[in-house]
Amino acid sequence: MSKTALITGASAGIGRELAIIHAAAGGNLVITARREDRLNQLKAELEKTYTVKVVIIVKDLTQPGAPAEIYNEIKKAGIEIDYLVNNAGFGGRGKFYERDMQADLDMIQLNILALTTLTRLFLPDFVKRGHGKILNVSSIACLIPGPLHAVYYATKAYVTSFSNALA
Ligand SMILES: NC(=O)c1ccc[n+]([C@@H]2O[C@H](COP(=O)([O-])OP(=O)(O)OC[C@H]3O[C@@H](n4cnc5c(N)ncnc54)[C@H](OP(=O)(O)O)[C@@H]3O)[C@@H](O)[C@H]2O)c1
Repeated sequence: MSKTALITGASAGIGRELAIIHAAAGGNLVITARREDRLNQLKAELEKTYTVKVVIIVKDLTQPGAPAEIYNEIKKAGIEIDYLVNNAGFGGRGKFYERDMQADLDMIQLNILALTTLTRLFLPDFVKRGHGKILNVSSIACLIPGPLHAVYYATKAYVTSFSNALA
């Protein structure tokens, strides 16, 4: 039976590529991001090329309620997620005390809190079912403190530490 992956940040970059790889292996998808046009374009492309079903959820994961909304929409649609891919994330360069404070807080909300909340929401279902996998996209930035990228590197240190602990 084909596996269904939920991929955050699937409208571009690594998330988009992971969606293509999963679809090419015959897997269904729930793809999420803010840019609906890009998600629709990817859905059309994947459903045309492969025999897969792709569901779109447009959501801004810097909004604190967004992870629960995604989880509830998926439950309501009766979709069972086999793979959770927490990929959405962003960084930003500059002196910490000069950078836009809201941008750094949004970074923490997306890179840490959304990832943690989605993991906390989906993991009990995986444990109950006895299967399911989570891929948290970290970075080599997790390994060292990052001058001029203080918050980004710190968020990725969290992602790696958290993921290793759960594993
Ligand atoms: N590229 C690298 O060199 C690199 C290296 C190491 C780790 N990473 C990590 O890999 C992951 C993906 O990076 P990437 O380079 O592929 O980035 P990207 O090309 O900028 O794509 C980021 C994805 O995240 C989504 N996203 C951004 N802000 C969001 C928000 N507020 N709510 C929901 N979705 C949001 C974007 O979609 P929308 O804009 O449509 O919302 C997009 O689909 C990130 O976690 C990043 O830290 C990247």
